[in-house]
Amino acid sequence: MVKPTPDVPHATQSPLCARRARTLGGRVRVPGDKSISHRALMFGALATGRTHISGLLEGEDVLNTAQALQALGCPIRRAGAAWEVQGRGVGGLDAADGDLDFGNSGTGARLMLGVIAGHDMAVRMTGDASLSRRPMGRVLQPLMRMGLEVLDRGKETLPLRVRGSADLIPIEYRLPVASAQIKSAILIAGLHAAGETTVIEPAATRDHTERLLSYFGAQVTATKRQGLRAVSIKGDGELAGREVAVPGDPSSAAFLAAAALMVPGSEVTIEGVLINPTRTGFYTTIREMGADVAFLNERDQGGEPVADIRVRHAKLNGVRVPAGRAPTMIDEYPVLACLAAYAEGETRMEGLAELKVKESDRLVATAAGLVANGVAAKIEGDTLIVDGGRGVPGGGCVATHLDHRIAMAFLTLGLGADAPVTVDDAGMIATSFPGFQRLMEGLGAGFSEPEKAQ
Ligand code: S3P
Repeated sequence: MVKPTPDVPHATQSPLCARRARTLGGRVRVPGDKSISHRALMFGALATGRTHISGLLEGEDVLNTAQALQALGCPIRRAGAAWEVQGRGVGGLDAADGDLDFGNSGTGARLMLGVIAGHDMAVRMTGDASLSRRPMGRVLQPLMRMGLEVLDRGKETLPLRVRGSADLIPIEYRLPVASAQIKSAILIAGLHAAGETTVIEPAATRDHTERLLSYFGAQVTATKRQGLRAVSIKGDGELAGREVAVPGDPSSAAFLAAAALMVPGSEVTIEGVLINPTRTGFYTTIREMGADVAFLNERDQGGEPVADIRVRHAKLNGVRVPAGRAPTMIDEYPVLACLAAYAEGETRMEGLAELKVKESDRLVATAAGLVANGVAAKIEGDTLIVDGGRGVPGGGCVATHLDHRIAMAFLTLGLGADAPVTVDDAGMIATSFPGFQRLMEGLGAGFSEPEKAQ
């Protein structure tokens, strides 16, 4: 059985405080990639036969997806260190008795809408306070064109009742925003439709859905249309259960890389990290800032490129991060902005409108957290500007707004700051990076409850 989700997740806050570290060093692994973990469970459930997943991220977000699939009649269990999914075949899931609770996870909720769309059943979807504020209309609109019915008419946020259909209509859809979640929901629904479904992206987003669906046997093709990437999937296909080895999450590894760059004398190697080019914008950016970062032992792991990432402390300079790079590092801006506080001069991060609709308004939360810790940061339109290299006083308390990446970014900031940095809640970190604190402590970081801070 999958771990039960608490009725009121994180009703009590657990504040945590990070203090200046002497040096950080070691070789570590980070938990499995969150995006691939969600997809491996979903595609395993839609396949015929057994799917065996090693390295699955056992974070609350992914466990909520597993629990939702179980509630829809798909047996999923932990088998030793791995997970086993007894697939039900495309269109083979059954109606659930109760609500499906996706907790904090936009990926879980939005991709599962694509799964539910292809089944003739009604489902009620819920989430925590953060997820219940996030826009679902961007996924519902294309799925409604394919045949999904929203039973709470006109509603575009969770909680939400929807009804899928066994006769989905294939569509061609131009994404209004560069979002892998919208693309993926449509492609997954397309698997259930009679004919070919095509999604055209304004900018290339993470392509794990395409890679993993192909690996499970779906017919997926990508072409260029007027310079834009168009991805098509043949409907009424079948998936076959597979072995999936989930690589380490580059978005989680980014906190360790940033910490090593902030703390003089540090050298950290993170083994087995996904380096899919649709995910490595953060690493491109820190190289431009002057970071000593190397991808070692590059290899292929189940259709995804993987490497050991070695990062050594270096003096950094501020850079301009172009808007076009945002899809390849969308989850890394909070920690990049914290790193920019230690870089000499101005770092301008452009085209960040999508940050406003993440687990929190990350544009505002990041700028506010920096200012609370004595760093000059401001927002101009969709651009975040950090004026770094003037020291990081620290001493502030950061409001995390139920956002795991805000919590981890500012705990990382504290590892190099003059005075300890406190986050008001570290509980949400378990949604994507269970063991974050222990792993950082193993490298030499020091955390404590705020009242015990010096
Ligand atoms: C994800 C896509 C991104 C990212 C999220 C995971 C995915 O969201 O922020 O953490 O797994 O497809 P958008 O596609 O909405 O930008």
